[in-house]
Parts: sequence; structure tokens; C-alpha cells
Amino acid sequence: MTGQARVVVTGGAGFVGVHSVEALLADGCAVLVIDNLSHPSDRALPGSCDVVVRDVREADARAALIAFSPTAVLHLAAQGGVNRSWRDPAADARINVQGTVSVLDAAREGACPRVVMASSGGALYGAAEELPSDEDTRAQPRSPYGTAKWAVEQYLGYFARAGAFATLALRYGNVYGPGQDGTGEAGVVAITSVRLVNGEAPIVRGSGEQTRDFVYVGDVVRANVAAVHGAATGAVNIGTGRETSVNRVVETLCAAAGFQGAPDHVDMPPGEVSRSCLDVSRAGTLLGWAPGVDVEKGLFDTYAHFAQKASAR
Ligand SMILES: NC(=O)c1ccc[n+]([C@@H]2O[C@H](COP(=O)([O-])OP(=O)(O)OC[C@H]3O[C@@H](n4cnc5c(N)ncnc54)[C@H](O)[C@@H]3O)[C@@H](O)[C@H]2O)c1
Repeated sequence: MTGQARVVVTGGAGFVGVHSVEALLADGCAVLVIDNLSHPSDRALPGSCDVVVRDVREADARAALIAFSPTAVLHLAAQGGVNRSWRDPAADARINVQGTVSVLDAAREGACPRVVMASSGGALYGAAEELPSDEDTRAQPRSPYGTAKWAVEQYLGYFARAGAFATLALRYGNVYGPGQDGTGEAGVVAITSVRLVNGEAPIVRGSGEQTRDFVYVGDVVRANVAAVHGAATGAVNIGTGRETSVNRVVETLCAAAGFQGAPDHVDMPPGEVSRSCLDVSRAGTLLGWAPGVDVEKGLFDTYAHFAQKASAR
């Protein structure tokens, strides 16, 4: 591509979004954020990007995307709570399915050549037989959230086959790092960090022996930037290839905080999978990407960030 890249980042005020916007700007891109600020990160957006505060389903959001004439859309806007999707699947679908289709259709109308979307490996593969799971693993989502991600990946395929634009779904593992909301019910690293900073015992769902692929936000952002600039299509996992148990995460954060007590245990929601881990070799081949941050170091750095933020209050 010649000339300056122009990237629309939907959900750009969120956790992954702000980090991605920072990286795209540092990379010389012009960036337009479209975000309704329903769940913004406490990390401020840089002043040098344009921001349109709108729901992605609104006509104004669509018009702003088209008027910006993007060379790529990085679609991150979503309701990200698996628990919330169990409680209200229709609301999840309105944002995560209808919202995504609105963005895709606006990208088509704006003749945008490329759309990269944040999907979820863990939520898509469910209780996979093979670990680490590669991209050919059968999708068997166990939540409305995962089902919506699967549905919109099908829409990406449709728009690509219709010749509208090239598409890539990045199937993230469990993303963690500075700027994640630790006050809600999603994101065990952020939630545990906030509790520890406040001197409260961590809460572990179930035995804590369930595993996830915890991937540092800085690594995810490198993948986003590579995906926006690259030509890869289809679906690519973005994780570490390593299973880490929730107990291990909590122990590591307790060590970082110097917390000596024991965590409290609550019931595990019925649909939660017990093991999840992503094979990331395709990301190496197609994006020249590999995870860089060791989980232990990433957890220590993340806790330090939460502690520093609290002490600055
Ligand atoms: N964080 C993870 O562990 C993880 C894992 C897999 C996939 N993902 C996906 O990555 C993307 C980013 O996740 P995140 O952790 O940064 O989430 P986040 O909630 O921090 O950010 C999402 C952003 O989208 C905005 N938004 C929500 N609905 C909107 C709407 N209808 N119109 C406009 N803006 C809207 C919110 O205000 C927020 O700023 C999401 O698509 C999520 O599903 C995240």
C-alpha cells in the first residue's frame, strides 16, 4: 500500500482499543475511533486521533466511517462479557452481531479494502478435543457471546466472497494488561489485581484449575497492527500456546502484591470450559507474529500498573 494508512478503530476507547490506537498512530496511521463509550478504558485516548462518539449501529457512525475513507477497519467494538451474554443473549446479539454487520456494511459502502475483526479462540472452540487448538478446530461455542463471534465470522466470509473487501478474524486468547477494567465480571487478571490493590482476597470460580491462554495486550496490539497492514485473510489465533490455570494467575498476582491470604471460592458458571489454549503457529506464518511477553512477567507488570494507578489516586 502506498500513502498513509487510514484506519477506523471501532471500540477504540476500550481496553484493547486504546493500546491499538496508540500503536497505529505511532506507526504513522491516521486513526478514527468510533465508540459509544459504553465501556471505555481508563487509559485516555491520544489527542491525535479523531473520535466519533456513536453506537456503531447508528447512521451517524456509518456516515463517519464512510466519510473517513479508511484503508482498513479494525473492528473491536463489542460487549465483551460472556456472563452478560448468558443473562441476556438478545442484547449480546444486538451489539455483537447486528453491530458488526452494520460496520461491515458501512465498510462495503465506503469501499474499504480490508476489515480485521476481534474474535475469540476460547469462546469459539469451547471444550476442544485438541489442545492447543488450531484454527481448523470445530467451533462449538458454549455461550451466546461465542456464538455471536462465530456468526460474525460467517458474515466476514460472506462479505469477502461477495468481493466487498478482504477480511481477517483474529481469535484472541484471554487478553490482559494495563487499562483493562477490573471492576466488572470479565477479566480475571484485572479483577484480581483491583481486589488485591484494595486489600481484598481474590475470588476464584470453581477449583481454579481451569486453564486459559493468557496473552498480554502489547502482543495482541502487535498482531492487530500486523493484521491491519498485512494481506492475510481467514482466521488466525492470537495467544501464547501455553495453558495457564486461574490458580496460577491468582498465585502470581498474590506474589506480586505480597498478599498472604487464601482466595475465596465461588461456583463456576455451568457453561465455562475447563481447558483452553491456542495453537499460534499460523500467526507466525501469515503475520510474522509470535507472542513476546512471558505470562509471569506480564502478570507482574500488570499488577504493578494497577498498584501504581491506585497510589496515584
Ligand atoms: N479482552 C479479552 O480477553 C478478549 C478476548 C477475546 C476477544 N476479545 C474481543 O476484543 C475486542 C475488544 O475487547 P476489549 O477487551 O478491549 O473490550 P472493551 O469492553 O474494553 O472495549 C470494547 C469497546 O467497544 C465499545 N462499544 C461497545 N459496544 C459498542 C457499540 N455498540 N458501538 C460503539 N462502541 C461500542 C465500548 O465502549 C468499549 O470502548 C472485543 O471485540 C472483544 O469481544 C477480547
